[in-house]
Amino acid sequence: MAEIDILPANRTSADGPKTYRVKSFGCQMNVYDGERMAEMLDERGILPAAEGEDADLVVLNTCHIREKAAEKVYSDIGRLEKAGRKAGKAPLIAVAGCVAQAEGEEIMARAPAVSMVVGPQAYHRLPAMVDAAVAGQRSTDTDMPADAKFAALPRRRKSAPSAFLTVQEGCDKFCTYCVVPYTRGAEISRPYAALVEEAERLVEAGAREITLLGQNVNAWTGSDDKGRSVGLAGLIHALDRIGGLERIRYTTSHPADMDDALIAAHGEVAKLMPYLHLPVQSGNDRVLRAMNRSHTAEGYLRLLERFRAARPGMAISGDFIVGFPGETEAEFADTLSLVAEVGYAAAFSFKYSPRPGTPAAAMDGQVAEEVMDERLQRLQAALQRDSRAFNHSKSGETCDVLVERKGRREGQWIGKSPWLQSVHFYGDAAIGDMVRVTLGEAGPNSAAGTPV
Ligand code: 5AD
Ligand code: SF4
Repeated sequence: MAEIDILPANRTSADGPKTYRVKSFGCQMNVYDGERMAEMLDERGILPAAEGEDADLVVLNTCHIREKAAEKVYSDIGRLEKAGRKAGKAPLIAVAGCVAQAEGEEIMARAPAVSMVVGPQAYHRLPAMVDAAVAGQRSTDTDMPADAKFAALPRRRKSAPSAFLTVQEGCDKFCTYCVVPYTRGAEISRPYAALVEEAERLVEAGAREITLLGQNVNAWTGSDDKGRSVGLAGLIHALDRIGGLERIRYTTSHPADMDDALIAAHGEVAKLMPYLHLPVQSGNDRVLRAMNRSHTAEGYLRLLERFRAARPGMAISGDFIVGFPGETEAEFADTLSLVAEVGYAAAFSFKYSPRPGTPAAAMDGQVAEEVMDERLQRLQAALQRDSRAFNHSKSGETCDVLVERKGRREGQWIGKSPWLQSVHFYGDAAIGDMVRVTLGEAGPNSAAGTPV
């Protein structure tokens, strides 16, 4: 561990924590990391705290991608302290995730209630840090060893029907607005054999769908069981051979790392769902260059054409940033044109948020908040129009829904269509079932299905 101090006397807890809660913010990789931390604590005999009950150990698994993340962490810590004072027992607090990586030292200095700060590449050491905290020591670990963490994590024993599997981490792209290359480190790929093994364990533990995760998931490379060098498509073909696994997804991809084999896989592997999340960020080439995106708007559109040729009707999703420094009204209009041309099924759109230490934060021409607000509204209206149109285009189709949870109403179930639409239906089902339904009309967030 990088750094150890002594806890203030009032923070020591003579006996170790009995219950824990992991609160994950931000991306799906944080959700995966949060699950793995929970598994390690389970192995230690620490139990998840019941809904609504205070936990003895709280892990705040933070996100640093956009503004106010650190402020949110401090206010969460304040809330936990207050609740602890009221209950007469302060919880042990660990700050994990990307805010921990970026601002670990500052958190330790500013928040005496925090006894552990652990970065995204070091969380396999959490149990040891908990032991140290119980003994009254504060510790920080923000080391970034490539891939050491995964080998140290316990075997997967339980899984929801839809599971995440981190295959790749980190980013070498250095988009000028983004903190990820600094908080998650350089691109690394986990080994093929370890991933096939983890996927098999997840399926034994109840997973029927696996989403392969990576900041640049399509940059994944490895050597297959015959020693051949393969890309993500090779891994997808290996997962295709796992009996009991019915659906494969992957996210998030970068246009620069796409290869023919991955595009072709969408036509070859029935388990590979007809959905692609491919962020574009802007539809204007000057802005894309200033963002260091390494693709043009045209290049992006041509790439999508190839995917749609391999798997007609596939759903496309994307990420957008409005108000990047220097973005003019005409440049923003190019983003709207690109959106109209693609017809996104789903999308995530954000106002540009200057991140400390990134090149864009120091660029001239920072765009006024009101301008960003207004552009975001126009963009989101267009994106909503298109997602409604996409849902409408699927209405009347029959497809499988993987049931993930009960709905709010009696007899109602909620799951996902192949195109990742949230589908609700009434009928005889259970969590983990694959139910055939005919899709009906869709609202803004979900579609109704009728079992056939
Ligand atoms: N400001 C706004 N949005 C950002 N994203 C990443 N960094 C920033 C930033 N500084 C968005 C991008 C990325 C998604 C995960 O978050 O659209 O694809
Ligand atoms: Fe950030 Fe760009 Fe890397 Fe995505 S590709 S994680 S936006 S630097």
